[in-house]
Amino acid sequence: MTSNVKDLDTMLDPLIIQESGEVYRNPTQVQMSQIVLPCHANHCGELSAGQLLKWMDSTACLSAERHSGVSCVTASVDDIHFEHTIGVGKVVNITAKVNRAFTSSMEVGILVTCEDLYTARQWKVCHACATFVARRTGAGKVQLKQVIPHTQMEQMEYSLAAERRRMRLIHAEIITDILSSSTAQLGECQEYEDAVRAERTRVESVELVLPPHANHQVSTFGGQIMAWMENVATIAASRLCNAHPTLRTIEMFHFRGPSHIGDRLVLKAIVNNAFKHSMEVGVCAEAYQGGEPLRHINSAFMTFEVLDSDRKPRTLPRLRPEPVDGKRRYQEAIARKKIRLDRKYITSCKQTEVPVSVPWDPSNQMYLSYNNVSALKLMDTRNNWVLTSEKNKVRLYTLEEDHMLFFKVEMNVSVPAEQTFHLLSDLRRRKEWDRHYEECEVINQADEDDTLYRIATPSVTKGGKGQDFILLASRRKPCDSRCVVSILAISVLVKLFTGLMLYFLPTSFLGSIMTLSSLGSLRDPYLIALRSVTLPTHPPTDDYSRGEVLCAGFTIWEESSTITKITYYNQATPGVLPYISTDIVGLSSAFSSSFSACSQFLEANKYG
Ligand code: COA
Ligand code: ADP
Repeated sequence: MTSNVKDLDTMLDPLIIQESGEVYRNPTQVQMSQIVLPCHANHCGELSAGQLLKWMDSTACLSAERHSGVSCVTASVDDIHFEHTIGVGKVVNITAKVNRAFTSSMEVGILVTCEDLYTARQWKVCHACATFVARRTGAGKVQLKQVIPHTQMEQMEYSLAAERRRMRLIHAEIITDILSSSTAQLGECQEYEDAVRAERTRVESVELVLPPHANHQVSTFGGQIMAWMENVATIAASRLCNAHPTLRTIEMFHFRGPSHIGDRLVLKAIVNNAFKHSMEVGVCAEAYQGGEPLRHINSAFMTFEVLDSDRKPRTLPRLRPEPVDGKRRYQEAIARKKIRLDRKYITSCKQTEVPVSVPWDPSNQMYLSYNNVSALKLMDTRNNWVLTSEKNKVRLYTLEEDHMLFFKVEMNVSVPAEQTFHLLSDLRRRKEWDRHYEECEVINQADEDDTLYRIATPSVTKGGKGQDFILLASRRKPCDSRCVVSILAISVLVKLFTGLMLYFLPTSFLGSIMTLSSLGSLRDPYLIALRSVTLPTHPPTDDYSRGEVLCAGFTIWEESSTITKITYYNQATPGVLPYISTDIVGLSSAFSSSFSACSQFLEANKYG
């Protein structure tokens, strides 16, 4: 899973001058700069990926510890994609900051850039998200203080962190399900005469964990384990191609249990499959002390390429897997490659670049759902909306950017947020207030939070065809209700306090309180995200023209126990743009009547 790095300059510059003129630096931000020396490099003069992983882990750990004030361990690292190699003599700059704290865990964003000191050029090498957990104290699990986002970028990362966390926690389970169903469909492995026997690539290596490999709490550094894993994976990859391999990607992984000084770490690697230009190497790390049984610490899957003299990937030899486990891993590597490509396609595209409808299937469900919710969250963090009209207390905002038109409709209702969410998230009930929803059927209940619907809308012209849509609806409750309640309470207190103090305090003091009142933005809303997908079971028919929704949905904010703010977003597809921009008045009137009807529907059903 990659995160959007919107603006390299903003990420690189730790100091941001705010509109107020104040200089702001994220308090959790930590930077590390290292000159790449020959002792950090491999025989080709490139920084070893293992050394880079150690630096990334240390920088991120220091950021997590700066926020938490206690010692932290690496729990997991999301997918890392290395865009460039780094030569000896270059400077590596690593910036880490805590995007969000949950209960005892934190998501830390890590940006790595490479700098050429002679030309002053800087370029991005990779971006990663790691999760660190505050070590338990005698009193049990640590309850971390919240991160308060100050800039729009921080607000966006804060919001997306909740969605990434959700995906991380279900990742292992989902991947196991997908692998077992997709490898069953793949059938027998193909036999190639000239293939290299997988056994030839097998590596087993042991490491003794010594004090320099561990922190002051005697726990082995996660980065050190990753470096040892990368070392054996590189040997396995080299054995396949008899050349120097370049690490491209590491898949998301989880440190299942701790390792300490005195542990013997057994690292095993083998090439699982070789494709035309890339190979997958699997690595397993296990620990033991004395006569104790092996403890499984971590398994990782790394993708390598072999570059020719023009830095283009070379064609790789085929692999002949070993029987049983080898054949299973060979098939699993094919399934993982498909998942990786789907995911890269779905999660890395900007909303404006994705073809409107993406095929839905159970193997890409997790990523489509992530993409659906993230797109809505990104729209929700935009702050340059223009108020276009206000009618019956329904406010319509628009925003035009990169030839795209976005709408936001906002209103308050006297219905509790949870009930509002419950009523709006069942799209079948929308026809009770939206005359555009003529028919709505559930096609597939993908999981508890994701549903596929077919929706039919009437024709806008007499005798013309109606439109139909295949929509993925992804709904989310706030990330952590306990945290929302306490933050709500704080923000209400802050509002009250600010109101009273207005009469007694100088304005400079009020400025800092106003920052505190931004605590309100820490809340997560309830979300209902909608996007078009395609399904082979529901192709377009002659009776309807198939419509598409890029990104739409509701965010539902609990203003108080009885008042809820509903925001509806819609991103117009480029095709309808010319019609809409010439009829903004008609549109605002249509929105106003639909949302007034929505408000009446919610009020009428507020008691269930
Ligand atoms: N990815 C990200 N976070 C994860 C996770 C994963 N795969 N699995 C668990 N977590 C988070 C949980 O969400 C929870 O966060 P929260 O408190 O903010 O809700 C936190 O870890 C603790 O979870 P809990 O259920 O209390 O503990 P656990 O038994 O699942 O243990 C670890 C989680 C990470 C503490 C445990 O697996 C561990 O000690 N791993 C080794 C860590 C280490 O030593 N790393 C260095 C190299 S070995
Ligand atoms: P698996 O169920 O495939 O063994 P593991 O999590 O134990 O999964 O291992 C992850 C990867 O580590 C495997 O896909 C394989 O590439 C590598 N691996 C596991 N065991 C060995 C071994 N004994 N020798 C070499 N490589 C191994």
